[in-house]
Amino acid sequence: MAETITIIDDRTGKQVTVPIAGGAFSSAALRELDPKLRMYDPAFLSTAACKSAITYLDGDAGVLRYRGYPIEQLAEKSNFLEVAYLLLNGELPTDAQNEKWIYDVTHHTMIHENMRKRFVDGFHHDAHPMGMFVSATAALGTFYTDAKDIDGTDSLHKQTLRLIAKSPTIAAMCYRFSMGLPFVSPNNSLDYSANFLNMMFRIGDDYRINPVLTKAMDLLFILHADHEQNCGTTTMRVVASAHADPYSAAAAAASALYGPLHGGANEAVIHMLQGIGTIDNVPAFIADVKAGKGRLMGFGHRVYKNYDPRATIIKKAAYNVFEVTGKNPLLDVALKLEETALKDDYFVSRKLYPNVDFYSGLIYQALGFPVEMFTVLFAIPRMTGWLAHYAELLQDSDQKISRPMQWYTGVDSRDYVAINKR
Ligand code: CMC
Repeated sequence: MAETITIIDDRTGKQVTVPIAGGAFSSAALRELDPKLRMYDPAFLSTAACKSAITYLDGDAGVLRYRGYPIEQLAEKSNFLEVAYLLLNGELPTDAQNEKWIYDVTHHTMIHENMRKRFVDGFHHDAHPMGMFVSATAALGTFYTDAKDIDGTDSLHKQTLRLIAKSPTIAAMCYRFSMGLPFVSPNNSLDYSANFLNMMFRIGDDYRINPVLTKAMDLLFILHADHEQNCGTTTMRVVASAHADPYSAAAAAASALYGPLHGGANEAVIHMLQGIGTIDNVPAFIADVKAGKGRLMGFGHRVYKNYDPRATIIKKAAYNVFEVTGKNPLLDVALKLEETALKDDYFVSRKLYPNVDFYSGLIYQALGFPVEMFTVLFAIPRMTGWLAHYAELLQDSDQKISRPMQWYTGVDSRDYVAINKR
């Protein structure tokens, strides 16, 4: 079978045949037919805007791989910092590389005192932590004179290190501010996830880091580290294509993630479960969703038309956490919702399955995080994916500044009318 596609412009009879590689053909074919021809593709449903070697996703089969490694294996055998190294560098680290990487990240966790005392203290007392995280990420770049030096590999590496190392510190700082609690400095003797939990929850000397909970946190970080060209990552790439510094680009990506249809869904799931209240109310809720009165949050995905593999792993992990913390009372409602939806033709025919956000909120809540922190918990590990895509884009000679075309539907040319004649 020929691996080509032939496109005929019926207006002119002109035709062009181009190769299909990796399931894609180059849009140069359309320009060859007619340079003014546009493909109308809102939300990029059929458009591959880049080549990428970072994450592979097969939504029909429910497959997710980072740099070729199945997410299930990484979740079981790896840890977040090793996965971060893999995403950024393409290979798992050797012993020596791992040691250096951990040392470097650990020694970049501090943030400038002015960030906390002057910048964060300026927020209103009830500011949403995700709004604070977005702003603090952009502000962080202003503390480094080399932030904009993205051409030098060493400099970009340093900004990457800073953003990955400082994201948990910023996140914890935003939380402590909103709770009126004193800031806890990073502790270099703890690993990435334990240090984050310590900065979040330590009150005086009274916080023991439970290894089961730290492992669950680390696992959630692994599962959220990258997910190819989602809305936030696409935002990162678009902003990076203008050669904005990585702090500004990451702040833009985090803003996209904040949306309830994207990373904000984990927060929305808990509000939904609380609103449903008990399993008896599940059928009525499902009937409302089917009648178009709201969505079943944590269900459905642009790419997965099968169970999201991350949701499978998270669901299992939830039980380990609940053994330590006690069961989250909303779990029964979530299980009943899932069971009901997966038997219902509305969800089955549309291939709507639980996504990563359906069960993650239940674990976050059991770990002690307030609902407003959930999207921040998504942003911390996703910082790694964003930065891997940022670097990949800069190295890709096919890329230029992003600039989609439009289909103009406004009025044609007309003359200005003076205000007294309108
Ligand atoms: N509940 C009820 N109906 C739904 C849902 C849902 N969660 N998701 C999609 N549908 C319906 C939708 O109404 C449409 O039906 P119809 O064909 O009759 O109009 C059909 O399914 C296709 O939906 P769509 O909106 O065209 O699908 P999409 O690919 O544009 O949207 C989505 C993907 C994730 C935005 C959507 O499924 C959704 O809103 N889900 C709930 C929010 C959510 O959980 N988001 C987290 C996504 S995973 C984490 C992340 O990537 O950030």
